[in-house]
Amino acid sequence: MEKIVIVGPSSQGLAVQVAKLLNAKKFSTETKVFPDGECYLRIELKEEAIIKGKDVIIIHTTGASAAANQNQRFIELIMLISAVKRMEAAKIRVVVPYFAYSRQDKVFRPGESILAEELCRLIQAAGATEFYSVDLHNPDILKVFTIPAYSLDPMHALAEEAKKMNIPNPIVVCPDKGAYERSRDFAKYLGEGIQVEQMQKKRDVVTGEIKMEGAANVNGKDVIIADDIIATGGTMALAIDLSKKNGAKSVYAFGTHPLLIKNAVVTLLNAGTDKIIGTDTLDSSAMTVSMAKVIADGILSHP
Ligand code: R5P
Repeated sequence: MEKIVIVGPSSQGLAVQVAKLLNAKKFSTETKVFPDGECYLRIELKEEAIIKGKDVIIIHTTGASAAANQNQRFIELIMLISAVKRMEAAKIRVVVPYFAYSRQDKVFRPGESILAEELCRLIQAAGATEFYSVDLHNPDILKVFTIPAYSLDPMHALAEEAKKMNIPNPIVVCPDKGAYERSRDFAKYLGEGIQVEQMQKKRDVVTGEIKMEGAANVNGKDVIIADDIIATGGTMALAIDLSKKNGAKSVYAFGTHPLLIKNAVVTLLNAGTDKIIGTDTLDSSAMTVSMAKVIADGILSHP
């Protein structure tokens, strides 16, 4: 079946690369915001018939940027899916490289919603027939889908980048319990016998304040910290600081989704990191490693 890539307004570079790897036709979008704040989106097509019966891959990330916040990005995503459904695509594969609201994955305090799960239900209700994200904060939210849904693994590609850096005496440090599996995978891909040291992070759910303990065995080592999201950089900065205090020779900050909001870059550099490395699930100054092949391979492995 012929594949068509829809290049969402927020994932342009990445989606174009995926289209190239899939050898697929691609279409961009026209967007605007009306004076009252409502969004408008249309797929730039001359004829709608081109979509009918095709394997359509929509690629649209939902991180906030100077151009739009995550709420607008989700509305645009629903518009993309709904338009493709109306045009009778045979398959609608929705790729959301960074899934905003993924950290709202459980009830932390009475009265909250589990918005990450509701957004999954909304994506399916709009017409998605398959769903893909990259390194979801909590892949358990995918269980609410009844369509095939996947969280693609970026750790192999990130570890390949680390290999290129010839880090002499690496140890992988995991900033909290939730990041253990990804850190373990990173270490496995990096090389045989690379240790993983786990830190303990505690967050006050009311104030958001975080405290961290651990990293006792990093003296003289080159520390690699692997996390899913670097937002304010607060978590990463504490892990860097603790590693340095425990004698780390150097510290590299690896994050799949480098949101880098507020003064995150300054925070991380001040904490003493030697380098910040992220992927292109979001447009940022740290998008060193492309997820295009990870996404294209994910699509191709589910024909
Ligand atoms: C939390 O559990 C996540 O995995 C990240 O560690 C966290 O969201 C990063 O946020 P920030 O950079 O603001 O500390």
